[in-house]
Amino acid sequence: MKKRRKLIVGNWKMNPMTLEKGKDTFKAVKKAAKGLARASVVVCPPYLYLTELAKLSKGEIGLGVQNVSTERSGSYTGEVSADQAASAGAEYAIVGHSERRAMGESDAVVAKKVSVAIQAGMKAILCVGERERDEAGLYLEHLSDQLRNSLHGIAKKEFSRVIIAYEPVWAVGRPDFDAMNGKDLYETNLYLRKVLTGVFGKETAFAAMMLYGGSVNWKNAEDIVKNGEVDGLLVGRQSLEPEGFKEVLSLIDSI
Ligand code: PGA
Repeated sequence: MKKRRKLIVGNWKMNPMTLEKGKDTFKAVKKAAKGLARASVVVCPPYLYLTELAKLSKGEIGLGVQNVSTERSGSYTGEVSADQAASAGAEYAIVGHSERRAMGESDAVVAKKVSVAIQAGMKAILCVGERERDEAGLYLEHLSDQLRNSLHGIAKKEFSRVIIAYEPVWAVGRPDFDAMNGKDLYETNLYLRKVLTGVFGKETAFAAMMLYGGSVNWKNAEDIVKNGEVDGLLVGRQSLEPEGFKEVLSLIDSI
């Protein structure tokens, strides 16, 4: 796999509680990201903070959203469209996060969101991951189905605008930051690329950007990226702690 710029995406989820705190955290992240030579940083805040953070970013930190509507416009109370997110400064959209899938989002819905995000000019960060692992390896079939179905209707040339984020659900939000280890991740990374090969061919599959997410912190980030041979990270809690996040960034930048 050829070497390219790593991507570190912070998923703030429904945090922090005020815009002021969001601005402070963002400023600290921006400072931490200064001078990175081999890594780029994207922050995905709550929608409400997007416009203000875009002003602070001045293009130095990428911005993304954590979800988009399946529809592009119209009578969909409470929804935010991909085009609206893009016009507020989002260049990336996380789609199919396990916390949204747990609220009932099916692969078909996720595939539609991937498509609208691309149509709005954004890059879709498509999350996939098994709930648990079984000895017989049945989870691999689930993973394959989830990935292929979540990409249903996406053309090969559109796929260059899709980033895959492998997030094993069992590793997300662990209190002890017990993430998947790099060695196991490497195997799953190859497996996912094999599944993608079946859909888009080998060249496209191996050119795809693959991130890992699930309890990443400054202690495990290096092993995950180095030994897992992934192109970057999707970071939850640690992305809200500027000190630890800064350490993650500098470790990844030095790989
Ligand atoms: P975590 O969250 O890093 O807090 O486990 C990751 C995610 O859900 O994207």
